[in-house]
Amino acid sequence: MVNRIQDFEIVPSDQALGAEVRGVDLAQPLSGELIHRIIRAWERYHVVFFRGQSITDERQLEFTQWFGPRHAPYPEMPILGDISQPDIITISNVTEDGLLGGGYIEPHQDGVYLPTPLAGAVMRAEEVPDSGGDTSWSNLIQAYSELNPTMKRRLRNLKVSAFNLYAGKTSRRDLGGGKQWFSEQDSTAQAHPLVRIHPPTGKKILWVSCLNSETIEGLSDESEASNLLLELKAHVDQDHLYYTHRWAQGDVLIWDNRCCNHKRESIPEGERRVFYRSVIGGCRPY
Ligand code: SIN
Repeated sequence: MVNRIQDFEIVPSDQALGAEVRGVDLAQPLSGELIHRIIRAWERYHVVFFRGQSITDERQLEFTQWFGPRHAPYPEMPILGDISQPDIITISNVTEDGLLGGGYIEPHQDGVYLPTPLAGAVMRAEEVPDSGGDTSWSNLIQAYSELNPTMKRRLRNLKVSAFNLYAGKTSRRDLGGGKQWFSEQDSTAQAHPLVRIHPPTGKKILWVSCLNSETIEGLSDESEASNLLLELKAHVDQDHLYYTHRWAQGDVLIWDNRCCNHKRESIPEGERRVFYRSVIGGCRPY
């Protein structure tokens, strides 16, 4: 199939974010205009997917880099994957190098504890279970916009820090599997603005990761800070903020990690799930 502009279509989901791109074969060359439209769709819908694709690892990396540069690893600050931080990692409950196992994963952003958290990630579905293993993303721009004006004022100038799931005493070995790199040393928590800007659109994001945001900085009263964080975690985890993706073999999906939390359902015993993931480096949140 030759990719033609007249076949290109973006079909938004009827949920808070997400869109399917149709009329594109990612294995074939794409014009600059088509690539530009796909990038704009990612910036607007935050989760964009293509069904029925058949691409190689090399093509997945080319596709990933349309959206930004490769993530440059930090020494002593592991993220998901082995210590060599390969460009593509396997997320699987069945292969020997498969990461993340088969359990439920709470809503989070990837690498929020880094000085420069990831801008996004791509997943390609190779084997998909008959049931379970759906992934859902929540819209943190909408979450911010739904706060009342008093709360918006209260959050101004506050910062939030998150712990590293793969380092020191905060490590969560149950989220490992495969060849996950765990650092024995604690990572220094990086505080970032609690309300950050979405670089492509200038919109405000309520930047809370349910799994590992740990401390709000800028309030003198510790119990006020921890109650506020609990309230915000509940706010970003409301059902109406989510898009849920039922995977099919051949899906290629990209998400914007700057403005979405993602969570995953567990995978039933005996079901196989094999995905390949690549990531995009991000800037320092502002
Ligand atoms: C992740 O949390 O990055 C994994 C999501 C998934 O397996 O669907």
